[in-house]
Amino acid sequence: MAEWTREARYQRIEDVDTETFMELKKRVDASPYRQTYHIQPETGLLNDPNGLIYYDGRYYISHQWFPLGAVHGLKYWFNYTSDDLVHFESQGPILEPDTKYDSHGVYSGSAFEYNGHLYYMYTGNHRDHHWNRVSSQMIARLKEDGTVEKFPKPVIHGQPEGYTSHFRDPKVFEKDGKLYAILGAQTNNEQGRLVLYRSEDVVNWTFLGEIQTDLSQFGYMWECPDYFELDGHDVILFCPQGVEAEGEKYRNIYQSGYMIGNLVIENMTFDHQAFQELDRGFDFYAPQTFVDKHGKRILIGWMGLPDIDYPTDSEGWAHCLTIPRELTIENGKLKQRPLKALETLRTNKETALGYANKFNRKLHPYEGKQYEMIIDILENDATEVYFELRSSRNESTLIIYNQRENTITLDRSDSGLLPTNVDGTARTTRLDTPLNQLHIFVDTSSIEIFCNDGERVLTSRIFPSENATGIKASTESGQVYLQFTKYELKK
Ligand code: FRU
Repeated sequence: MAEWTREARYQRIEDVDTETFMELKKRVDASPYRQTYHIQPETGLLNDPNGLIYYDGRYYISHQWFPLGAVHGLKYWFNYTSDDLVHFESQGPILEPDTKYDSHGVYSGSAFEYNGHLYYMYTGNHRDHHWNRVSSQMIARLKEDGTVEKFPKPVIHGQPEGYTSHFRDPKVFEKDGKLYAILGAQTNNEQGRLVLYRSEDVVNWTFLGEIQTDLSQFGYMWECPDYFELDGHDVILFCPQGVEAEGEKYRNIYQSGYMIGNLVIENMTFDHQAFQELDRGFDFYAPQTFVDKHGKRILIGWMGLPDIDYPTDSEGWAHCLTIPRELTIENGKLKQRPLKALETLRTNKETALGYANKFNRKLHPYEGKQYEMIIDILENDATEVYFELRSSRNESTLIIYNQRENTITLDRSDSGLLPTNVDGTARTTRLDTPLNQLHIFVDTSSIEIFCNDGERVLTSRIFPSENATGIKASTESGQVYLQFTKYELKK
């Protein structure tokens, strides 16, 4: 692949002639891995979801975007609007790197409503002559005509003493009639932290300090924080970088997780339970949440991670967003369930009821590349149960349930092409309760597995061959009694 020079990475989309761009678009459109019901970049690289909000009767969903190739170059926000979070209308770039404060990237941020207007707060990334990073927190307001107007100056320029310029990703929330912004930060001695600002007028932001948690040494940088109240609890999400793997935990290059607790802003304390990973698959990072039109807390993540090479890089595009998930806290535990409205994509229902045993059983007429499947485990005396999806003679994406350990494993060693620079080819997680259901969403190049009605989620990209469409069930020994319900998903 051609070398990405710094110059090429920081090219603006207008600087590239139409022909070159159309060539890129053609290459992307020809990819066999294009998704069908996930948000993906039209060209180039997608990363974090940004500026998620339900405003004036419509959803606004943006994402970090480098248009010109599958690398982390000059970032824009690419925007979609939607009536239902299932169908999306592409609106093109909404925030562009066009001021001196965001000259090297419009980085991640959030949306909020204030006095009837939609505002974005985001990090402007600038590099000085010595290529030193300068981070500013910027605000832009959406105008009637659908374009945005940026405030002329950052509302937070640089960072307070004690922190490095890794100071970013403001998430704005309202509490007791005031606006707050929670940001990810790094201390001068390279510890990840969360800091808080308050504003009463959108323009002036007061630094309140660092949120005290029990995690004083937990990675060198915390990115993409989020705070919300849910079912009587406070929840903080963030993405620590630099946490060592611990057995089956923290196996991805960077982590993304949550803590449930109690935030007391007057004392800047967060009294919390242990940090938990939001997702136990291979490809999940930088999620953000917002409230939908029904008042539900919805989460969307980036189905990818930084610093990994993906098989589509050579086709000029990379990554997608996850399907939206509805969050609740039930009996003190966070549950994540697929967005109900996705049911509107269901067609061609097929069902099957029966036993699977050690003889590999192909499920007829089941097969597919874009589908939703609910597997109810009605009785199980098998030591291990195997589900193979996207299978062919020599490929399959394997889900293993081990009854004794009560673990779920996603094994993609035979899934087809694999991303590189990833630790291992399997991810395992122990469930809280014996497995009674898998609710799986398969798209052309991804799989999202919800276990036990939202108890655990494993999200991964997979890159199987086009003919790998089979679905099979079997066991190591003993048998399992299963009810399958499958729907093809079509837009
Ligand atoms: C997370 C992240 C953010 C940053 C953005 C830049 O993936 O590194 O911290 O704002 O990506 O694209």
